[in-house]
Amino acid sequence: MRVAINGLGRIGRAAFKILMDEPDLELVAANDLISLDNLAYLIRYDTVYGRYHRRISVEEGALVVDDKHRVQLFSERDPATLPWKELGIDLVFECTGVLKTEVDLKKHIAAGASFVILSSPPRGEEIGVVVHGVNRPDGTAQIISCASCTTNSIAPVVEVMQRRIGVERANMTTGHAYTASQSRVDGASSTGRRGGGAAATAAHARGRDGGSGDRVWVEQVANVATVRDALAGLQRADLGYRTLEFRGDVYDGEVGPLAQGAQLSAEPAPRHHRTT
Ligand SMILES: NC(=O)c1ccc[n+]([C@@H]2O[C@H](COP(=O)([O-])OP(=O)(O)OC[C@H]3O[C@@H](n4cnc5c(N)ncnc54)[C@H](O)[C@@H]3O)[C@@H](O)[C@H]2O)c1
Repeated sequence: MRVAINGLGRIGRAAFKILMDEPDLELVAANDLISLDNLAYLIRYDTVYGRYHRRISVEEGALVVDDKHRVQLFSERDPATLPWKELGIDLVFECTGVLKTEVDLKKHIAAGASFVILSSPPRGEEIGVVVHGVNRPDGTAQIISCASCTTNSIAPVVEVMQRRIGVERANMTTGHAYTASQSRVDGASSTGRRGGGAAATAAHARGRDGGSGDRVWVEQVANVATVRDALAGLQRADLGYRTLEFRGDVYDGEVGPLAQGAQLSAEPAPRHHRTT
């Protein structure tokens, strides 16, 4: 399958590296607005994951991996102008964080791609959301979303609780690493409100389920604590799903007492269970 990535940010670069280890998926092209040299540098040297073990060089309009695998690079804001048809792209990973509506995502299809996977929740009701281990895509869908990081952490746990025990009330607390777009102090924001948020807490509660989210002062790892049931064993048996990753190693996520956070087990799980 021939693959392209739109948006080589934190998630797009992680996808880039995972694709290099997937023999069935060939990364053919990528698109981002920043310079090729800067992209090469960011792939080579990663503050969280460390030095990339593969050699990355820059050629005219392309990144070359290990002196043999050429990934063509574009710099187009509008995905409708990308040459997916000419390149025979089957699948696009949409990782810019700015294109989330069906109208925007269909531009990849109009440009010639067959399928699109969105790295975030969609805007609007038209696009189905799929969480690994919880639900499956509609077999006919060309565009799917793989949900938010919070949903990916909590939904598999809730799914097992629903299946085995039933849930009457739930309350969750997420601890989330800061992201590229968050500043550490208050500043201007296009929403007309306060920009910032790298260390802020956003709390909300709705109906029988409540929750709050905390941005924590770490560069990576998201965890979710939920109601007082030790379900890690069930979770592992039912889903084979891990919830915690730190610096490239994935750890078993355990559901711990409310507000205490997830625990790290001693043994890293196989890397292919990686979550973002
Ligand atoms: N599903 C999950 O578990 C999960 C986890 C983390 C992040 N996300 C989501 O993934 C998305 C990306 O997050 P991130 O942290 O990688 O963001 P980021 O800001 O690090 O990366 C975005 C990249 O897209 C590029 N870009 C912006 N507009 C573009 C355009 N029009 N065309 C091409 N490139 C463009 C930027 O230059 C940047 O390199 C966000 O929506 C985020 O919420 C999902």
